[in-house]
Amino acid sequence: MNITIVGTGYVGLVTGTTLAEIGNSVYCVDIDEKKVEAMKNGVVPIYEPGLEEMFLRNIQAERIFFTTDLKEALEKSEVIFLALPTPPGEDGSADLSYVLKVANDIGDLMTEYKVIVNKSTVPVGTADKVRDTIAAKTDIPFDVVSNPEFLREGFAVEDCMNPSRVIIGSTSEKARNIMAKLYQPFTNIGVPIINMDERSSELTKYAANSFLAVKITFMNEIANFCEKVGADVDLVRLGMGSDDRIGHRFLFPGIGYGGSCFPKDVKALLNSGKQEGYDFQLLDATENINKTQKVILVPELEKYFGGNLQGKKIAVWGLAFKANTDDIREASSLDNIKLLLEKGAQVVAYDTIAEENVRKILGDKITYAKDMYSALEGADALLIATEWPEFKNPNFSLMAQKMINKAIFDGRNMFPLELPEQNNFFYKSIGRKLVT
Ligand code: UGA
Repeated sequence: MNITIVGTGYVGLVTGTTLAEIGNSVYCVDIDEKKVEAMKNGVVPIYEPGLEEMFLRNIQAERIFFTTDLKEALEKSEVIFLALPTPPGEDGSADLSYVLKVANDIGDLMTEYKVIVNKSTVPVGTADKVRDTIAAKTDIPFDVVSNPEFLREGFAVEDCMNPSRVIIGSTSEKARNIMAKLYQPFTNIGVPIINMDERSSELTKYAANSFLAVKITFMNEIANFCEKVGADVDLVRLGMGSDDRIGHRFLFPGIGYGGSCFPKDVKALLNSGKQEGYDFQLLDATENINKTQKVILVPELEKYFGGNLQGKKIAVWGLAFKANTDDIREASSLDNIKLLLEKGAQVVAYDTIAEENVRKILGDKITYAKDMYSALEGADALLIATEWPEFKNPNFSLMAQKMINKAIFDGRNMFPLELPEQNNFFYKSIGRKLVT
């Protein structure tokens, strides 16, 4: 099939590349000329395991193309995916101006039947708005489909190639059939295709992400309580997760959830609730708890240093909001660093993948280390903010040689509890140790 993807951000680029991989011709449209030129020359604008290889393979095979010209792409394609940003406004509501602007342009430019697919996470009712916007411009028939994306950063290619389910939100038989044909290479291996109306599909996306945010937050609260009562959250987690109604995944406590999705989607759903006169108390609490949880180790650091962090040199391992991504949006590392700086500490950070993005925000307010051990040179304490695999099995004696104080504050529960202690480190993790 011939497909257009409008917007070559995270979702657009990965969706486009994987749809090309399964044999479609994909036209990727973006307004950023420089980015389009770079992509034509084989430059992948984001870091995502496995993407570059697939991207280059499909350029080579002439299955993926890049252009700034929406008209040219539209003429060639029957299915048009919208993978545009929907950033939160000040009140948390999703800003639909990019989506509706492109809908308007499609209305102006289309000359025959098209299926317009909303891939972006958009509030309930957006498909109707896109439909109205296009219909105001043309009499040519078209359908609008909601087809939310469930890919995780760091596993985006894998998630797109092996989806857990494909949700098609459309009441049009014709559009459903076209979408079913497009996704057939995935669904014929047993992946369910779930048909529903547009509104239910739009809400499914918010409900799924918000539920996962609630699940993590619930576990963070249990972890905090474990510390109060002398229980071990790892055992509680195992005991709970073994009930398959609960499941083991997304029960890992830590210094809060971040990223471009959970915080934004919880806010947006809360906001949609307000607009409809519904008070999502659970989501309100989740958002507030997560804010506190992100910096829950800072008071522990203060306590360790007798209430004063002035002049203390704190090494921070990990800046990305989670491992396997360079994304620092809503990353817990940033909240911690900002608070540590406010309290007069110096920060040396290590994260080769995400460093460049942090430099754009924090510049030389902190220093950046080339490797995980040099970050510890003369450090008073180490704070672990991201669960990069390379931190899992460190050389504790080398760490001890470098650090002034042997103290680890681990926001991602990286080590078995006894390991740092066997190496004579003070070790504070989340929910696994009695507060004395
Ligand atoms: C999330 C969802 O998992 C995807 O299904 C969804 O498609 C995506 O949002 C989206 O809407 O685009 P992502 O933001 O890439 O994916 O990251 P996750 O792996 O879900 O992690 C989110 C945050 O939760 C991270 O900060 C992570 O550290 C934290 N987390 C995750 C925990 O604190 N504990 C856990 O047990 C799991």
